[in-house]
Amino acid sequence: MAFPILSAQEAAELIKNGDTIGLSGFTASGSPKVITEALAAKAVKEHEEGRPFKVSIFTGASTNNHADGALARANAIDRRSPYQNTPDLRTRINSHDCHYFDLHLSELAQKFRYGTYGNLDVAIIEVAKVFDNGEVVLGTGVGNVPTYAIHAKKIFLELNDKLPEGLYGFHDIYLPLDPPNRREIPIYKPSDRIGHPTVKLDPAKIAGIVHSDAYDGIKGFTALDDTTLQIGANVCNFLIGEVRAGRIPKSFLPIQSGVGNVANAVLFGLGDAKELPPFEMYTEVIQDAVIDLMKMGRCKFGSTCSLTLSDTKEAEVLSNLDFFRDKLVLRPAEISNSPEVIRRLGVIAMNTALEADIFGHVNSTHVVGTRMMNGIGGSGDFTRNGYISIFSCPSVTKGGLISNIVPMASHIDHTEHSVDVIITEQGVADLRGLDPVQRAERIIDNCANPIYRPLLHEYLKMGTDGRGGQTPHSLNAAMAFHTAFQETGDMRNVDWAKFF
Ligand code: COA
Repeated sequence: MAFPILSAQEAAELIKNGDTIGLSGFTASGSPKVITEALAAKAVKEHEEGRPFKVSIFTGASTNNHADGALARANAIDRRSPYQNTPDLRTRINSHDCHYFDLHLSELAQKFRYGTYGNLDVAIIEVAKVFDNGEVVLGTGVGNVPTYAIHAKKIFLELNDKLPEGLYGFHDIYLPLDPPNRREIPIYKPSDRIGHPTVKLDPAKIAGIVHSDAYDGIKGFTALDDTTLQIGANVCNFLIGEVRAGRIPKSFLPIQSGVGNVANAVLFGLGDAKELPPFEMYTEVIQDAVIDLMKMGRCKFGSTCSLTLSDTKEAEVLSNLDFFRDKLVLRPAEISNSPEVIRRLGVIAMNTALEADIFGHVNSTHVVGTRMMNGIGGSGDFTRNGYISIFSCPSVTKGGLISNIVPMASHIDHTEHSVDVIITEQGVADLRGLDPVQRAERIIDNCANPIYRPLLHEYLKMGTDGRGGQTPHSLNAAMAFHTAFQETGDMRNVDWAKFF
């Protein structure tokens, strides 16, 4: 069957105000680029001519500047889920121009199938190849395509000419049955394949193919510095200690590593930690560092939802597909992040916190408790189900004006019940088996920056001396670090005397 070839503008013309759209990909990888940019241009024109134009966007995770970025600048996003990280969309969310709701990445596809979010009018899917029968080979990110493809009334394909057809075979597309018919997801090791290399689309729904040759536009990470290198080393030393103590099997376990600069540093550290055997990953994103670890033989296999690689690293992988063919598999988000599979495989979960409190609660999403940063992503999927759940972050941010260890987290994404270990460049706080006061002492002594330790000990003393309780917060003072920062620009200006 010959599908219509459209320009990006022609495709955008077929998308209406109020439509709900599902985008392919996971992070910038595999996300559409040209149709979304044309849609943003259409929105600008509609707005200039006095007509409303907004669409709802559901994705796999974050997208890119061509999708979230362009549409946010055009103020064309009504509702958005589940994860985002473009500065322009962040601004729209925090100013309430866009209704954003944040949820665990493993949950979106099934909730869509359950009918929770209504109908899907359009799916826009980046592909490496289209077969005449409507089957497609996806690009470097899968996300929720299998579900969006079923639910969308019409589908536009972005055929990216830069993606080699050799990507055929890297994907493992599997759609679980929904309750009450759900069975186990039969993955018993990261490299198990349980599905198809292609997504089978209904050819009658394919409204057109738009050619593109755009890169994902992912920048490399900030150069590692003393702080991030020390965090990476502390994580590795902790893991080595766990293997020596027999709490992690000597053959090791699959690891998950989160997103961002700190996660990149942790991966870098794993390259050097030769006492740990070469390892496998069961994770949602594979960043640049993992590709280097694969070339060094340190990472044997990666199961992921996306290859979130800088443009140069992506080009390197795409031109060496045969080397990576037996080392990578790309899965839908509900499989890469499946709580069932994570728990079964014993995945070591390693994510990054914005801030952690002295009792072990973690904020991954809200700056000073109010402004959305990116979203929870898959951190909850992995943390809640991991064999060991580790959070790392620098002890201070903005040159010491902010302590990332605070009396009470200003927003909580991960509770004391799920967080096993907190690691900063200062050291490691293993919280397992400790009560809240013991946890607090360990986090302050091992993880807080020395410039904040006395203030945090004084806060804890206020609670243990006077107020009592299993978790001895002083509620009137619990947010004083944050209010000191808001009022004076420096958390160190907190004055406990005001609260006695
Ligand atoms: N208060 C205010 N700002 C803070 C802060 C705090 N406690 N901690 C960090 N920041 C700021 C940093 O200063 C930096 O700001 P800048 O962009 O102006 O320089 C920014 O937040 C990012 O900090 P950085 O140390 O570079 O962290 P990162 O790149 O490692 O990202 C998260 C950290 C938490 C934002 C990121 O990991 C995230 O979005 N996590 C949630 C999703 C997730 O964990 N997914 C993984 C599942 S696989």
